Amino acid sequence: MHPMKFHFLKTNEFLLPQPGTAAALKVDFYKNACPQLHEIVQKVVATEFQLDPTSAGPQLRLFFHDCFVGGCDASVLLNSTDVNQAEKDAAVNFSLGSFFVIDEIKQQLEQECPGVVSCADVLALVAVYSVKQAGGPLYEIDLGRRDGLTSYAASSETFLPAFSLNISGLLEDFHVVGLNLLDLVVLSGAHTIGQAHCNSVVNRLYPQVDPQYPKYYSKQLVANCTDNGYLKLPNFDNNTQFFNDPITPTRFDNQYFKNLEANLGLFTSDESLFNDERTRKLVETYASNQDAFFKQFGISLRRMGKIGVLTGTQGQIRNQCWVRNSHNLKASTRVQGPELRNVDKA
Ligand code: HEM
Repeated sequence: MHPMKFHFLKTNEFLLPQPGTAAALKVDFYKNACPQLHEIVQKVVATEFQLDPTSAGPQLRLFFHDCFVGGCDASVLLNSTDVNQAEKDAAVNFSLGSFFVIDEIKQQLEQECPGVVSCADVLALVAVYSVKQAGGPLYEIDLGRRDGLTSYAASSETFLPAFSLNISGLLEDFHVVGLNLLDLVVLSGAHTIGQAHCNSVVNRLYPQVDPQYPKYYSKQLVANCTDNGYLKLPNFDNNTQFFNDPITPTRFDNQYFKNLEANLGLFTSDESLFNDERTRKLVETYASNQDAFFKQFGISLRRMGKIGVLTGTQGQIRNQCWVRNSHNLKASTRVQGPELRNVDKA
């Protein structure tokens, strides 16, 4: 359990109706208002991938860390202010990256279709094109989200599932945002790409090395996380990274599930999927059937993308993704509390 997990009461108020008029999300939401949208996102993601094939990981993870915390409203992109610590500065988000990719896309969009595309939708599309770029299918995703006005680090600590959780704990966190066991298993398949730091496996390496890891694998992990045989306590070495999927690290495929069967699941949360009766069958299905994994991943990603969304006249369309537009703040927005007065200091 993450030490800061209980900072906040876990209520899902953000799933309740929000001020303003809501509207439906649509796949072709920007068809007329910004026909260049998909091409711009796809090109930037492709360029990044050519420069660095590990770029797809952090880009996909951003969407998850946004949606689980207050809904898919780009709150993860807002900067902290003098009086408020934002989500991106939460300890649990220490390794979030790719913010510059979102900014690059947003800048191009503001030139082509100013004030039209939300940062929340950029996050959704970047996730979709990152999967595609890494070798997965091109998924349809609903659009028309609007950007939120608040962002609290404590919410990230509360709502993001910790790497040390077992299935019961993970399910609890998924249920809070309206997702189920199937979503949990298939979306964990995102760990078929991307990287992790020693901190995220510390509970399986110290004080004892988890015997469920194959010996050769735990040896590699320990070697990575120690300095000449000494553990770099208390935080290990936060600069060392290793692949979530050591077999096909930058390819979006079903190798993650095969890894789970071979006890190569990196985090406690990963290995629990195979150890627990409730989820093992699904792991086996996806390990043996990549098409089934691809199909359900698209469905669950779309479901995740609908968590607590702002639509219609709710929220705003930010001009820049890291700061909310002060001139758009009206009584009908969701802002409450002291940081409203400090909006220009962000
Ligand atoms: C089921 C609960 C989950 C837990 C406990 C979890 C935990 C983690 C942790 C601890 C890391 C490594 C952080 C680090 O050490 O730097 C990570 C990386 C990652 N996670 Fe998850 N995750 C979960 C679900 C998801 C979901 C639903 C997605 C996306 C749909 C996702 C996508 C990723 C990606 C792509 C990375 C690699 C990021 C990079 O390369 O920088 N995860 N996750």
